[in-house]
Amino acid sequence: MNKKITAAITGVGAYLPDYILDNDELSQMVDTTDEWIMTRIGIKTRHILKDPTKASSYMGSMAVNELLEKTGTNPKDIDLVICATVTPDMIFPSTGNMIAYQAGCSNAFAFDMSAACSGFLFALATGSKYIETGACKKVVVVGAEKMSSIVDYNDRATCPIFGDGAGAVLLEPNEEGLGVIDHLLHSDGSGEKHLHMKAGGSLNPASYETVANNWHTITQEGQAVFKAAVAHMADVSVSMMERHNLSADDIRYLVPHQANLRIIDATAKRMGLERDKCMINIEKYGNTTSATLPLCLWDYESRLKKGDNLILAAFGGGFTWGSVYLKWAYDGGNFLK
Ligand code: UT7
Repeated sequence: MNKKITAAITGVGAYLPDYILDNDELSQMVDTTDEWIMTRIGIKTRHILKDPTKASSYMGSMAVNELLEKTGTNPKDIDLVICATVTPDMIFPSTGNMIAYQAGCSNAFAFDMSAACSGFLFALATGSKYIETGACKKVVVVGAEKMSSIVDYNDRATCPIFGDGAGAVLLEPNEEGLGVIDHLLHSDGSGEKHLHMKAGGSLNPASYETVANNWHTITQEGQAVFKAAVAHMADVSVSMMERHNLSADDIRYLVPHQANLRIIDATAKRMGLERDKCMINIEKYGNTTSATLPLCLWDYESRLKKGDNLILAAFGGGFTWGSVYLKWAYDGGNFLK
């Protein structure tokens, strides 16, 4: 009898631009303090891509380069590149297309997925289907964001939150039951009013008016998003545990989207997990939107062991939210940084 094929993560790569924007520098730009940002959000620093000639595809391709090098993979063997992003280089062609080209994945087809901060989860679930069906043997899933290109650095309510960066994973077939086991994904378009970027699309193409009205940057009603994020991220993570009869003891790590330390704590609490079972790097990188989850895996890779149970969870603009249950497929210590 043929064994069931699952999609295992067989490596992680990442890229963070050099420039570090800390809370002291932000306090000189807007009326805020390190104390407010640390208490209300939990961020100390974020990386910013300063070079105006480079964008998300550059960071994404750098992450893919590292991933392919680490795993000893020939770029020509990649079948598919999926890029999750809300900051594509351009409306078209897709940033995934540009990443595949820049990383030398010349035999891959590529496309973007837009699900805001849940983008990586949606892309991971999609990529895993191409592996499970046998349609692809090697799939790269990338989250790449130049958030600094859509942040209003005069708005103290949003500018401390976001950072730039990229992370990428390689998916390959597994017959030992390791990899992506299940996913629960949700969308609710009624959340659009609370978190969006108004212009630059077909509704409000760029014009003098859109620029004058500052519609090319993020608009967020923080509290409405906060409440929805806490409720949905916790609910969907607990649902995943119930679907698979997982207790808190069974879970090695919660891998949560890094939007606000208070949202992470609330989710972990509902799951019955202590802080030491949460991957947390928000203090260093801020919210890199679709790059937060692979950046967590990258930072914690050396601590992961084959067979570890991970619950990935995210919530973002749309609204979109979801969780993925995966069994880690290799001893991360082999890739000690
Ligand atoms: O990843 C995508 C999904 N996004 C999220 O998950 C974000 C969810 N929301 C949040 O994380 C929080 O709502 C924020 C971090 C955005 C804001 O925190 P908050 O505790 O909800 O603050 P608030 O918006 O209720 O504002 C409280 C006060 C206000 O002053 P008044 O009206 O009480 O005088 C704000 O003007 O804090 C003020 N404030 C600030 N003060 C100092 C807002 N931003 C700042 C700031 N520094 N940077």
